[in-house]
Amino acid sequence: MSSATTVLRQAEQVTELAPPVDTRALRNAMGHFATGVTVVTAPGEGNAMVGITANSFSSLSLEPPLVLWSLALSSPNLASFVEGKPFAVNVLGQGQEAVAMQFSGARDDKFAGIDYRLNQQGVPLLASTLARFECRVEFTRRLGDHLLIVGRVKDFSTDEGEPMLFYKGRFGALDAAAS
Ligand SMILES: Cc1cc2nc3c(=O)[nH]c(=O)nc-3n(C[C@H](O)[C@H](O)[C@H](O)COP(=O)(O)O)c2cc1C
Repeated sequence: MSSATTVLRQAEQVTELAPPVDTRALRNAMGHFATGVTVVTAPGEGNAMVGITANSFSSLSLEPPLVLWSLALSSPNLASFVEGKPFAVNVLGQGQEAVAMQFSGARDDKFAGIDYRLNQQGVPLLASTLARFECRVEFTRRLGDHLLIVGRVKDFSTDEGEPMLFYKGRFGALDAAAS
């Protein structure tokens, strides 16, 4: 092995071992990027259903239609997001903060009191959302502390309404003057 290669390997090891950033500061900086809020839903183990509040959702490609989001590796629901499995992304609207909170907490029945229907693949589709994208997992990859999930959009629909925003760790709404 050449000495240059050795140095590069060592540099990689040091980079892996050293804390690269102040994660709290990085999280705060990331919070300056305003996003919408979604609830990702999927069938779970047995008759269980999965619902996870997620703001990492993004459009990836139109042809073919692909979307992406990421799930913390600490989630108990990683098994629901393996290649080929169905899931849906439900885009929340203004005033659905309680729904976002319900699906972001660790509780046994996240769907208690939630209005939804199951699609043909058994995926819960939440009622009264701005948009829903029915997908199948196309690709996953563990990166850092999250699982990157790319989904192929199989069906989608939209409704009128104002969006719910997430900015600097808080829920918000579009300024009426801006809309
Ligand atoms: C606004 C908001 C956005 C979130 N975005 C994500 C996300 O993109 N990915 C993720 O893994 N967790 C995200 N979370 C945290 C999860 O919703 C939370 O950890 C939830 O309990 C995960 O469900 P599970 O433990 O049943 O998998 C977010 C929480 C909030 C409030």
